[in-house]
Amino acid sequence: MLVIFGSNGDLAKRKLLPAVFQLYLDKLLPEHFVVIGAGSQEKDEDTYRNDVRESLKVFAPNAVLQNEDGLESFLKNVYYKKVHNQTEEDFGALKEYITGLSEKLDISQKIVYYFSIPPFLYEVVAANLVKYGLNQEENGWKRIIVEKPFGYSYDTAIDLDKKLHNGFNEDQIYRIDHYLGKETVQNIMVTRFSNGFFEPIWNRKYIDRIEITASERIGVGNRGGYYDTSGAMRDMIQNHLLQVLAVVAMEPPAIFDSDSIRNETVKVLHALRPIKGNDISKQVVRGQYITGQVGDEVQKGYRQESGVAPNSKTETFVAMKLFIDNWRWGDVPFYIRTGKQLPDRVTEVVIHLKPAPHQLFKQLCLTEPNNMIILRIHPDAGVAIDFGMKIPGAGFKVQNVNMAFHYSDLAEKKISEAYERLLLDCMIGDSTLYARADAVKASWQFVDPILQAWKINPEIPLYFYEAGTWGPVESNSLFDDKFMRWRQPFEKFKTE
Ligand code: BG6
Repeated sequence: MLVIFGSNGDLAKRKLLPAVFQLYLDKLLPEHFVVIGAGSQEKDEDTYRNDVRESLKVFAPNAVLQNEDGLESFLKNVYYKKVHNQTEEDFGALKEYITGLSEKLDISQKIVYYFSIPPFLYEVVAANLVKYGLNQEENGWKRIIVEKPFGYSYDTAIDLDKKLHNGFNEDQIYRIDHYLGKETVQNIMVTRFSNGFFEPIWNRKYIDRIEITASERIGVGNRGGYYDTSGAMRDMIQNHLLQVLAVVAMEPPAIFDSDSIRNETVKVLHALRPIKGNDISKQVVRGQYITGQVGDEVQKGYRQESGVAPNSKTETFVAMKLFIDNWRWGDVPFYIRTGKQLPDRVTEVVIHLKPAPHQLFKQLCLTEPNNMIILRIHPDAGVAIDFGMKIPGAGFKVQNVNMAFHYSDLAEKKISEAYERLLLDCMIGDSTLYARADAVKASWQFVDPILQAWKINPEIPLYFYEAGTWGPVESNSLFDDKFMRWRQPFEKFKTE
């Protein structure tokens, strides 16, 4: 049984229901299963099924077009129960409903509760479930999936964690970070640990710096209310980007299981060199978009978005330079950045290798003589290696070329959506790709002093950038070399 709290919300419609539907079409769900929408609106089952049908048509159009019969048979497994998250008794009624459904349909009570609700409701819903014994596992396991943001700061994350543990054990709590569910993020581990030629150079001896970019073309849309209390640091860096960084920088685990992998990623987060005091302005650049042209359209500025305070200082862009204090990465700078209303939607990791020790063709290089390994997470997912090659003809002119693997070349394999993978993993009890409590705490511990400083020191600049640009130019000042710039990602991996 999958119970979705917040079943009428955006996330449920856009991501969760399409993911469950796809799992159903791929025959990855058990023969007997139900999805129970638990929402605060009063509606009967037929109305909810119709809502699900309509939202799948919008958010999973291809799957629906190709599987009209599949859609109707899927909807037979969809149920609805009105549950007001803050009304205790509604959870008593939910329990009766679940028991009734389980008897009627002969379905065991192995239940995933998905918290697709605003974060302030996580502890209330967890407590209400516990109150009515809906966490008890005598008649089947019970797991909760908790969306990000997990807490608002280090202290609130610890507090939330404690509250969830009042009734749920760690192995029942799944903290979702959908970046870890992305096929291409998992492929970073495979690229590194199943090949002989990447890992030997994956260290301070050969790597000059690493860049991680997650840029978005969209603004905050209708999420202004949430975003204005969050900002890019909480929305993207504390979770998605630090998790990707941890996968890029982790040590190889001895065995491939949930605990071994998560033990290694958390070590990276613990090794992050704290950024404090004056270093904050030197190592972190925050920005906010103002009106500008994105493609053919003029976009409004962040402060004009609905739900955003007209004098808001919330950052929609963050670029930072950080270090991992361990043997592998001693003094190798990592540059990470994310922003909204940038020219392209791209997430990629760029490994910049040090130049060869003796530059034989230095005067003959038409491009920078440095090699790069690009791990493209999306779009056009894949891996590219950028290296110098002799230009055919007389002499020894050298130019960088690109050897790229694109996932799209694997015609027979489709890349699953992150939520499909993660929902299925939770159902089978595999928490490898979910964030463990210690990792969540470690990343809060790292970003908290920066957020605090921004809050209390108005003199730390908030740079404005026009929508449709790559963020404030000041983000280039993070590099020690004044001629160095962030790589401009292009759709097909091309390098400058
Ligand atoms: C979400 C953030 O977690 O990730 C959004 O809340 C952001 O603000 C989204 O747009 C980005 O995810 P993706 O998969 O589109 O890169």
